[in-house]
Amino acid sequence: MHESVLLTESIDNLNLNKSSIIVDCTLGYGGHSSNILKKIPNGFLYAFDQDDEAIQKANQRLKSISDNYEIINTNFVNLKTEIKKRTDNVDGILFDLGVSSPQLDEAERGFSFHKDAKLDMRMNQNQKLSAYEVVNNYELDQLIHIFKVYGEEKYAQSIAKGIVKERKIAPIKTTLQLAEIIKQNVPEKYRRNNHPARKVFQAIRIEVNNELNVFETALKDALDLIKVGGRVCVITFHSLEDRICKQIFKEVSTIPKELQNLPLIPDEYKPKYKIIANIKPTPAEINKNKRARSARLRVIERSL
Ligand SMILES: C[S@@+](CC[C@H](N)C(=O)[O-])C[C@H]1O[C@@H](n2cnc3c(N)ncnc32)[C@H](O)[C@@H]1O
Repeated sequence: MHESVLLTESIDNLNLNKSSIIVDCTLGYGGHSSNILKKIPNGFLYAFDQDDEAIQKANQRLKSISDNYEIINTNFVNLKTEIKKRTDNVDGILFDLGVSSPQLDEAERGFSFHKDAKLDMRMNQNQKLSAYEVVNNYELDQLIHIFKVYGEEKYAQSIAKGIVKERKIAPIKTTLQLAEIIKQNVPEKYRRNNHPARKVFQAIRIEVNNELNVFETALKDALDLIKVGGRVCVITFHSLEDRICKQIFKEVSTIPKELQNLPLIPDEYKPKYKIIANIKPTPAEINKNKRARSARLRVIERSL
């Protein structure tokens, strides 16, 4: 089962009232959404996901609470168009990024370097690009770039070269095969700390699902969608996502540098948003749930 991260903190920060209209961009197994739905008996919840299995399970859970919700089965990159078709009145938007524990636990999804499976890593099972294509067909330079940028992997080059060498002999088909190649292409001492495949697997997952670009687009659209007084809450799980969130929140909540010394700031340059919170899980939550270790919740409110 998926244990929701920063659940109380994110729900509290959505400032819900009984009639709130809320968008959960990452429904998953409905941990956040079910708690939201209970608190908005006269409101409405729109929830996005692109994983058929998660949607089916979450739907069962939400159905038992109320019918004030709609699940939108698509990538949240379509947030703006899908929500604009339905309402102009959004009070709060939540992102709880990444993959869920069940996605990680199901070996056949190919997200885990601990479990043997076909190289897959697609969150949307209907999409074409999978980890297999990335590993077997991307050019050496593309692999190095992805491992460096999306994995912040210092042995990006030797790992990518190792992959290219192996796949000349035969295609790399499984997660454990890939994990082993990674292990063989990093120094001995690097193998002792975290699993040496962790960063490369993260990098391939980000590439397969185009995670960073999709998130950046959707976050900007979320800021446009919320009404004055509305809030956007974002839970991230690694520094790349968090950096995007931090930067966008900073840009929209500060006066441009060149105008900062003006005695009077023209209305159109006054920031429309204010930063509300930047929260890490408590040691108690991290103790209970390892996934929370790297999580962070950022909250922003629209003020104009
Ligand atoms: C960490 S889980 C969410 C867990 C949920 N908040 C809960 O408490 O049960 C993230 C979910 O978002 C979905 N997801 C991630 N990126 C997505 C995207 N770009 N579009 C739609 N769904 C996405 C994943 O399929 C996964 O089910």
